Amino acid sequence: MTLSFLVEKDCRHIWTPFTQAQTASPPLLITEGKGAVLKDASDREYLDLISSWWVNLHGHAHPAIVQAIAGQASKLEQVIFAGCTHEPAINLANCLASLLPGDLGRVFFSDDGSTAVEVALKIALQYHRNMGDTRRTRLLAFEGGYHGDTFGAMATGGRSGFFDAFAPKLFPVDFLPFPATWQGDSAVEGKEQASLAQLDLFLTDHGQETAAIILEPLVQGASGMRMNRPSFIRQVCERVKAAGVLVIFDEVMTGFGRTGTMFALEQVGWTPDMICLAKGLTGGFLPLAVTVCQEYLYEAFLDDGFDKALAHGHSFTANPLGCAAALASLRLFREEDTFRQIETIHQTHQAGLIALENLNLPHLDRFRLCGTIAAFDIDVADAGYRAGIGKIIREKALEHGLLLRPLGNTVYLLPPYCLTAEVLRDTWNRISRIIEELDV
Ligand SMILES: Cc1ncc(COP(=O)(O)O)c(C=O)c1O
Repeated sequence: MTLSFLVEKDCRHIWTPFTQAQTASPPLLITEGKGAVLKDASDREYLDLISSWWVNLHGHAHPAIVQAIAGQASKLEQVIFAGCTHEPAINLANCLASLLPGDLGRVFFSDDGSTAVEVALKIALQYHRNMGDTRRTRLLAFEGGYHGDTFGAMATGGRSGFFDAFAPKLFPVDFLPFPATWQGDSAVEGKEQASLAQLDLFLTDHGQETAAIILEPLVQGASGMRMNRPSFIRQVCERVKAAGVLVIFDEVMTGFGRTGTMFALEQVGWTPDMICLAKGLTGGFLPLAVTVCQEYLYEAFLDDGFDKALAHGHSFTANPLGCAAALASLRLFREEDTFRQIETIHQTHQAGLIALENLNLPHLDRFRLCGTIAAFDIDVADAGYRAGIGKIIREKALEHGLLLRPLGNTVYLLPPYCLTAEVLRDTWNRISRIIEELDV
């Protein structure tokens, strides 16, 4: 079948996510992935600088994960996870519990980041009810936070700017201002204090009615790789916890090394009541997610009858192939010294950002970096996710063999950890050229 015929068939029958099909360019027909490189049907190669929507960790088609999935598929591909269990799930739950701090060790499996968030919200609400406190039904979140596309996730991400079409059906959530910061930002202290002051006021009025806060620690991903300081998140956690509010860390994007540590919570220095993990959990091979809770939450669901049980489950809960992939991915962190690779990416990003900043282009600002995530903004009149400049940069990057997907006027790099310093340095040079040639 010819390339154009296949793409035509795609356009006839596939509804592409997060895309305005009427104005989008035809999709790339990808046939192969190896390491950080994707190849299309005409043998053109592209560096996957966004880890295929932030999921890939060790590179595409990593043989260790391929083998783990194949080995598991020949033994047990799927089994109902209520009344049955299996070794890959048991081993993965134990492995995650050993990686996470404190009492954070009770694992609820689901399929993707959105469902991991739904589960956390439901556990938070039902926990208080099970404890006999029916007042705590409010939820708190940050402006700009994004937690997925299902209804609870949309409600708590209601100020991300993506969900206006559903606003009448989103349950009410209370939002705090998010003190986004970047390199050389002298106003950060003031922004943080203003947000904390608003939190204090909120807790005075509504602390006793609030079930939980959900937040993306260190980096708000989808709203433009907006970063904040760990000390600010810690202060938020201390204050809400003192008011009896549960803390949910949505580490769907920040988990598994993205921010320079296995989990962002390590830099925050706080053990949340729950953490949501997905995306990189399987190294980017298969959909799988977990909501990991502190044990005391689990205990509040134990009773003689069903009423206090968590009425939540998915057909593919704890899919054995996903669990096997996740275990293989976590083994690779040890075997391939992944944190050394992560440090190399961090340093190379830093040099790339400095070089770009030194070009002194008037339309660039807000250079920022957290672990393996580097970002900067292009000053345009229509700033935000809908900014047309993002599409222009994506197209130009493709011509240079780079797969980027700017979040509107925010350009970011979030590469797989196998990307070498040499290739990443060359990438930054190419990005500099693309940006210099922009007509803004
Ligand atoms: C922080 C965060 N939470 C939740 C989600 C939703 O994850 P999924 O797309 O796997 O449902 C995302 C997706 O980008 C995310 O970045």
